[in-house]
Order: sequence, then structure tokens, then C-alpha cells
Amino acid sequence: MMNKPAILVARAIFPEVLQQLQQVFDVDHNQEDVVMTPAELHARMRGKVGALTTGSERIDGPLLNACPGLKIVANMAVGYNNFDVDAMTKVGVLATNTPDVLTETTADFGFALLMATARRVTESEHFLRAGQWTKWRYDMFAGAEVHGSTVGIIGMGRIGQGIARRAAHGFGMQVLYHNRSRLAPEMEAVCKARYVDKGTLLRESDHVVLVVPYSAQSHHTIGANELALMKPTATLVNIARGGIVDDAALAQALKARRIAAAGLDVFEGEPQVHPNLLTVPNVVLTPHIASATVKTRMAMAQLAADNLMDYLLRGQTRTPVNPEVLA
Ligand code: 8YV
Repeated sequence: MMNKPAILVARAIFPEVLQQLQQVFDVDHNQEDVVMTPAELHARMRGKVGALTTGSERIDGPLLNACPGLKIVANMAVGYNNFDVDAMTKVGVLATNTPDVLTETTADFGFALLMATARRVTESEHFLRAGQWTKWRYDMFAGAEVHGSTVGIIGMGRIGQGIARRAAHGFGMQVLYHNRSRLAPEMEAVCKARYVDKGTLLRESDHVVLVVPYSAQSHHTIGANELALMKPTATLVNIARGGIVDDAALAQALKARRIAAAGLDVFEGEPQVHPNLLTVPNVVLTPHIASATVKTRMAMAQLAADNLMDYLLRGQTRTPVNPEVLA
């Protein structure tokens, strides 16, 4: 009997998905979910033809040099800024991600974070739990209006469009957006969204939501200068990636009430969180859970596994990031 192809599943995944992989591959798994150093990852990846990774594993030139037999890395995430895609393409390693299956779930969470932030949900809960709720007061935790207000979406891909549809159709909001390229007119109509430059978006929005992929160009899309353009009553929501926002500048702006509040699911250097964000009350903080429903995380794991099986067993691809390696 032929040896099964060897793969690494770099982090813990659903046991039923792991079992599928074990039927057709020789799987080195990590169900104990130890976060590996780059050196440990290199060592575990050496000799493998494929790997299933999450956003926490960096696939770069040094790793690829250490793993000459590698053919595919399937990320269990739609974002793939943990991949050096150019380096992977250069050595013919296919990169895949998990688009579509998480779009609506992530848009739901973007909206949840926007509402929690504007309506001060966690701040008021902490107050209640601390036993400080002794009476009703006219302005107690009075926040910002959501329905009928203006939302500005930076990054109008699939998730951005999902947030726009919720805002326009569900909450009667005006939707502004900024993106590298303008949407087709039909799509703008579906989202009831108006394209504006970044400065106009920041000046006119009551709520700014960031859904832009991370790259060198999008690093610190929001820093002190951008925060200075926003309304003092505005909220900022980041469900994109750590590094899109200058977290130190944001913490300062929140402390000075330069903007009213922020909701953050992603952080620079996560799982570390800038200490100044932990001390300001007007920020809702969640641990990178925007795609975390059982159904969606299962769909993401299955799609990553399917990408590995399709490519390594049948030479086919489902959701390639660099399809040019096939040419
Ligand atoms: C993942 C994400 O939970 O898909 C993405 O890009 O950010 C999240 O859905 C995370 O990256 C784990 O891989």
C-alpha cells in the first residue's frame, strides 16, 4: 500500500474534520493546541506536503526554505496576511483561504459590536455587576443613536457589503463607504451605499466600521490624524485586523473623549492588547470572535480541509489565493 501524504494541522480543529483528514492523510495534529514558535512550526512542517493553518501561523520565506516538499497551505481564515503570498507563489506553494462561508456571520458580529459600542452595553453591565446601580437617572449610559444615523464603512468587500445591507435595510441608516475601487452601480444600489473619499467618510459618519484587509498599504488606516477628523460623538469599530488601527493613538483619543467609543475585535500584536485600551471604559473589547459561531467555524474548517484534499488527492482547487502556481 502507498504511504499516505503527510500533512500538519497546525492548531486544534473540530475532531470530525480531523478524522476526515486522518482517513486520507498521515496527519501530524496539534489537538492540544500549543501555539508554536516559528522554529517549532518549521520543524513540524518539514517533510509535510500540506498544512492547515490559522491566522496565527506565519508562512514566509524562511519556513518555505525549510520545507522544500510543501505543496499547499490551507488557511482557516478569509484573511491571509499571515502568508507571504509572493514567496509562496515563487516556490510553487498553493495558498488557500476560506471566503464566503463566514461573510454573513462576520457582518452580524460587526453589527453586534457597533450596537454594543454605541449603546454602551458592556460598560453598563460592568456597572451593574459592580453593584453600582442604585437608582434610575435620565442620562445613565445614554449613548449614540444607531437607527437612522450614518455609518461609514472602510473596505467594501463581501463583509462590508453585508454590514451595509444590514444598516440600510434593517436600520434605515445612511451608508457611506470607501474602498480601493468603487462598487458596480447595481451593487451600490443593493447596499444603498454612497462612495466617498476617506476624509469625507470620517467627517460625516456617526459610526465608522473597518473591514479592510491588512497590508502594508492599509497599516494604520486609522491613526491620530484620522481620529481627529471624526465627530466627537462618533464610534469606531474594527473587525478587520490588528494594525489597521493605531491602538495607542486610539486609546489616547478614547481617554480624551476625542471620539465617544470604540468596539474592537482585533488588536495590534494580539492576543496582547495595548494596556491603555484596558483602562478606558468607553471601549468594547472582544477576543477576535467575529466569525465564531459553531456553524461558521465548522464550515471554515471543512473548507480548509476540502482545499487540502482536493489539491493533494485530485489536483483541484476550491478557493485558491494564488491560482497562478497551477499554471
Ligand atoms: C479567524 C479571521 O477566526 O477569517 C479571518 O480572516 O480573522 C477569523 O475569521 C481567524 O483568522 C482564525 O484563523
